Amino acid sequence: MGWSEPPTVILESGGESLQQQQQIRTTDPRDKGTSKVPETITITDDRTGKKVTVPITDGVFPSSALRELDPDLRMYDPAYLSTAACRSAITYLDGDNGVLRYRGYPIEQLAEKSTYLEVAYLLLNGELPDKAQLAQWTHDVVHHTFIHENMRKRFVDGFHYDAHPMGMFVSAVAALGTFYPEAKDVLDKDVRDKQILRLIAKAPTIAAMCHRFSVGLPFVYPDNNLSYPANFLNMMWKVGEYEIDPRLERAMDVLFILHADHEQNCGTTAMRVVGSSQADPYSAAAAASSALYGPLHGGANEAVVRMLTEIGSIENVPAFIEDVKSGKAGSRLMGFGHRVYKNYDPRARIIKQTAYEVFQVTGKNPLLDIALKLEEVALNDDYFKSRKLYPNVDFYSGLIYQAMGFPVEMFTVLFAIPRTVGWLAHWQELLTDKDQKISRPRQWYAGPDSRDYVPMIQR
Ligand code: CMC
Repeated sequence: MGWSEPPTVILESGGESLQQQQQIRTTDPRDKGTSKVPETITITDDRTGKKVTVPITDGVFPSSALRELDPDLRMYDPAYLSTAACRSAITYLDGDNGVLRYRGYPIEQLAEKSTYLEVAYLLLNGELPDKAQLAQWTHDVVHHTFIHENMRKRFVDGFHYDAHPMGMFVSAVAALGTFYPEAKDVLDKDVRDKQILRLIAKAPTIAAMCHRFSVGLPFVYPDNNLSYPANFLNMMWKVGEYEIDPRLERAMDVLFILHADHEQNCGTTAMRVVGSSQADPYSAAAAASSALYGPLHGGANEAVVRMLTEIGSIENVPAFIEDVKSGKAGSRLMGFGHRVYKNYDPRARIIKQTAYEVFQVTGKNPLLDIALKLEEVALNDDYFKSRKLYPNVDFYSGLIYQAMGFPVEMFTVLFAIPRTVGWLAHWQELLTDKDQKISRPRQWYAGPDSRDYVPMIQR
C-alpha cells in the first residue's frame, strides 16, 4: 500500500461518549473530573467497522488498542517518531520549550549547584543524596576506579598504534565485562549495583587509558584523593608535575552533568534494547557507546570542530550556509538540530557560558568566532527558522574540549564517560519494569513472495 491511498483505519482524538463504544473501556482517572472532552482516542478500522476507544494518559495511548482491533495490524513508525518505547521516571524533556530536568530538577540548577557524582546518585536513585549518602557513594566510586592490569597489558596494548580512542573505548567497555562473570546475573539487585559502580568508576580510567595509549604515553593510575573530574584530568594530562586548575575541574564537572542523561536517545535506546535480552551491562553499555559514536549522535562534537576548521574564517560562513541549504555534498550544519528540541537546547546555552569561563584560563579558541557567526547567520535564516533548527549540546562543547587540549578523537569519549550513568539508570529501570519484555519490533515486509530456488546452472 502506498501512502497516497485512502486510509482504512481512522484515528479520532476525543471520540464519542464511552458508553457508545463497543470496545475497551477507558480507565483514565481524569475522566472522573469536570473535563467535557474525554481524554480518549477512538480508532476505527474501516475494513471491518470495528472501533476501539482507549485512554490518553499524559499524551500517550497504549498500542494494545491496535492489537484489540486486529492482532495482525502494524503501525509503521520508522525511527520511533511517534512511539513511546517505555515509561520512564528519569529525565523530562520538553523540546518545544527547551526544558530538561533530571528527576524533576532543572538542568540549569544542577549545572550551577550540583556535582556529577551527586547527579549520578540522583539519576540512579531518584532522590538527591543526604550528606552521609553522598559521602558513601563518593567513597564507593573512588574505590572502584582501578582496572585489572591485564585489561591494559593484554587488551589495550593489542590495539594498532593509531586506533581511534572511541573504537578502543567501545571495545574496552565490552572487554571489562569478561573480568566480572557474575555480571550476567542481571536480575540480582546487589550484582547490578556492583556493576553500576564499577562502570561509572572505571569509565574515566578507560577513557584516559585509550588516550595515553594513542599518544604513546605511559598509563597514569587513578588518584583516589581527587574529585571525579580532577582524577580524570590527572590521568589524561599528568606528565611529571601537573596541577589541575580548579576552574577547568569545575568546567569538566559541569560538562559531565550536562551529558549525564537525555532520555530515549539513540545510545540509551541501544542500551535498553540490548539490556532487554538480559545481556550483562558491559555488553549493553558497549552497544550504547557504539550508537553514541555516530556523527548524528555523540560523534557530532568531533564533526563540529572539523566543520569549523574546514570553514576556516568568518568570511566563508555565508557560502557554507548556502551549501548546507542546497544540500551540496550532503553537508549539514553539525551541532544544529535535534529530534526533540524545536527550541534552543538548554544544554547548549549553559555550555556556551562555560566556554567563556574556560577560555579565560586557556585563551580563546580561534574557532569560536566562526561558531558565533554560524549561529547568528543560521538563527536568522528562513531555512533554519522554518525547520526549528537551533544549536544543540554538541555545537559549543567541542570548542571547550579543544581549548582544554583534548584531541578531536577524544570528544565522543568525553561524552561517553558521563552518559554511562544515564545508560545504567535506564538499564536498571528497564529490568525492574513489569511492562517490559525483550525488545522485538515488528516489520512491514516488502520483499518477494515465496519462490522456488533456482539451481546455478539455470541462472
Ligand atoms: N543542518 C541542515 N539541515 C538540517 C539539520 C542540520 N543540522 N538538521 C536537520 N535538518 C533539516 C533536514 O534536512 C530536514 O529538512 P527537510 O524537511 O527539508 O528534509 C529537516 O531539517 C528535518 O530533519 P530530520 O533529519 O528529519 O530531523 P531528525 O529529527 O531526523 O534529525 C538530527 C535530528 C540531530 C539527526 C539532525 O538535526 C542532524 O543531523 N543534526 C546534525 C548532527 C548533530 O548535530 N547531531 C547531534 C544531536 S544532539 C546530541 C545527541 O543527540 O547526541
